[in-house]
Amino acid sequence: MAVVVVGSLITDIISYVERLPQPGETIRGKSLFIGCGGKGANQCVAAAKLGAECTMIGKLGSDSFSEMHETSFKSLGINFEHVSRTDEAFTGVAQILVEETGQNSIVIVPGANDKLGAENVRKAVALIKEACVVVAQLEVNIEASVEALKLAFTNEVKIIFNAAPAASNLPSEVYQLSSVFCVNESEAEMLTGEKVDSIESADRSAQILQERGCKVVLITLGSRGAYLKDEANNGILIAAPPVKAVDTTGAGDSFIGALAYYMAYYPKLPLQTMVERSCQVAAFSVQKPGTQISFPTKEELPEELFL
Ligand SMILES: Nc1ncnc2c1ncn2[C@@H]1O[C@H](COP(=O)(O)OP(=O)(O)OP(=O)(O)O)[C@@H](O)[C@H]1O
Ligand SMILES: *[C@@H]1O[C@H](CO)[C@@H](O)[C@H](O)[C@H]1NC(C)=O
Repeated sequence: MAVVVVGSLITDIISYVERLPQPGETIRGKSLFIGCGGKGANQCVAAAKLGAECTMIGKLGSDSFSEMHETSFKSLGINFEHVSRTDEAFTGVAQILVEETGQNSIVIVPGANDKLGAENVRKAVALIKEACVVVAQLEVNIEASVEALKLAFTNEVKIIFNAAPAASNLPSEVYQLSSVFCVNESEAEMLTGEKVDSIESADRSAQILQERGCKVVLITLGSRGAYLKDEANNGILIAAPPVKAVDTTGAGDSFIGALAYYMAYYPKLPLQTMVERSCQVAAFSVQKPGTQISFPTKEELPEELFL
């Protein structure tokens, strides 16, 4: 297996409403969408759609929501044998209300994702050893993410650590053991206290993360692209291609899935080229509505991205 993702699986339940309800108020929604999400699952799907051989390590409840994830992953050929189920919690759910104006409000109940333990990750040690890249985030029990970092590090497997959703007081391993540490602007600010609103501030924020032990730091900057600071401390802004964005949800996950794909299948490419290509893949995803469904397949992308 080339890419192993340790992370969250969440069912998105999206209700489209004319306006958000007041406290205590019941309103009638216009339509409903139920789909598979979660940062871990999204990143895994993003890499798999580009053609990566992927394994997912995660936790679902023993409920009907879990079946949807299984069906979706299996249809993409993702190895699902390390996604286990618990009776102690429901499958993670994000209840999302979207107003006509585009304004939304979201409640995420991590549920089973919090039950993913270090032992679940250790069970997959043979796969991790053989992997080219391990990807982890912060949407599952942190012990599972740290175990993934440790196993990848001791076995000299590259690890992309996406410190999302934003959190503070992370254990030192997340900085020291990751090969590529990736965050967006608000996560960078949360971790470093440096408001990221320019190249200079992105560089200062990346510098602080490197002082904590990070090797390569990547700060994604939405439509402006991504700031890359490499192991030699050289920083460069990689511009995103100008596109007409219709839905940017999951852009970060598309970017990380693509980066994992390039690190696994094009290890000789310069890191800068990998990031440029990942920006192009993510820019493709923002031009379509939806999350996993908006991630492009290899066939939909220009050939130059696969030379
Ligand atoms: N409007 C856009 N046009 C072109 N590329 C974009 C746009 N928005 C995002 N991207 C691409 O996606 C990458 C990740 O976006 P962003 O920094 O918004 O991540 P994020 O905040 O984690 O995403 P989200 O929370 O929306 O899923 C960017 O580095 C960029 O390459
Ligand atoms: C960064 O990602 C978080 C999820 O971890 C999201 O809530 C936030 O809006 C993002 N910030 C930006 C500036 O895109």
